[in-house]
Amino acid sequence: MGEDLIEQYRIRSEPYYRATGNEIALYEAAYSVRMPLMLKGPTGCGKTRFVEHMAWRLGRPLVTVACNEDMTASDLIGRFLLDAEGTRWQDGPLTLAARHGAICYLDEIVEARQDTVVVIHPLTDTRRALPLEKKGELVRAHPDFQLVISYNPGYQSMMKDLKPSTKQRFGALDFDYPEHGVEAEIVAHESGVSLQLADKLVSIAERARNLKGHGLDEGISTRMLVYAGSLIVQGVDPLAACQMALVRPISDDPDMRDALDAAVATVF
Ligand SMILES: Nc1ncnc2c1ncn2[C@@H]1O[C@H](COP(=O)(O)OP(=O)(O)OP(=O)(O)O)[C@@H](O)[C@H]1O
Ligand SMILES: [Mg+2]
Repeated sequence: MGEDLIEQYRIRSEPYYRATGNEIALYEAAYSVRMPLMLKGPTGCGKTRFVEHMAWRLGRPLVTVACNEDMTASDLIGRFLLDAEGTRWQDGPLTLAARHGAICYLDEIVEARQDTVVVIHPLTDTRRALPLEKKGELVRAHPDFQLVISYNPGYQSMMKDLKPSTKQRFGALDFDYPEHGVEAEIVAHESGVSLQLADKLVSIAERARNLKGHGLDEGISTRMLVYAGSLIVQGVDPLAACQMALVRPISDDPDMRDALDAAVATVF
């Protein structure tokens, strides 16, 4: 039963991932000692794609959980459900991954409350076990199980940070937008635009990233460039595509929009 459930999380075909450094080898080394990993970096720079790719490479199912502040420990661990035959325990995503040897990816971990985050502690030290207190069971993690979390250091306040006792259980890999040529290659691959056009889109993003901290909270991400490229492939005029996919989403301020529109206009 559990085996069938976990099969849904298996990644069947290779997710395209363009490495930007030695992150694949570092991940493999970390996985071989089952080190829990933290992927740090701005939104839309390839963290999720990287973990999908690594799960595929290592042949492990990938269980992803989008964390939020309403999430409780039970949402991760599991709960008793009432059905026709009475009460029945249902494993939460973390328990499912730990039992069956999946990679569990907790996306945007800092969004979760600290009393929720601490449930990962016994799984991320030498115990590698998860106590299900309500059920009276101690789940010993499958030898293939690994925990990965993502963390966006940009827009966090001091209030929303991980406790040192959580942070120090993880190795960390830093992510950022790739250098120009590599990012253009990714945008061309993902959206189907030519390399020349992708190159122009990346130039716009670079201008916007320079405005970060000068009225912009976040620069234009690789994800947004892929969106812009996809619109252009659909036949949308490049100027309109860039306004819709790159400029409008990140700013409401008229002056900032003008500055970004000007950056688009100089490229197209
Ligand atoms: N190195 C890369 N190789 C392949 N695709 C990439 C790469 N970097 C970014 N992308 C593209 O950018 C998109 C966004 O990346 P992804 O979803 O992995 O971002 P993320 O870092 O997880 O963002 P968030 O913090 O918002 O979850 C991907 O769907 C993919 O199209
Ligand atoms: Mg992500």
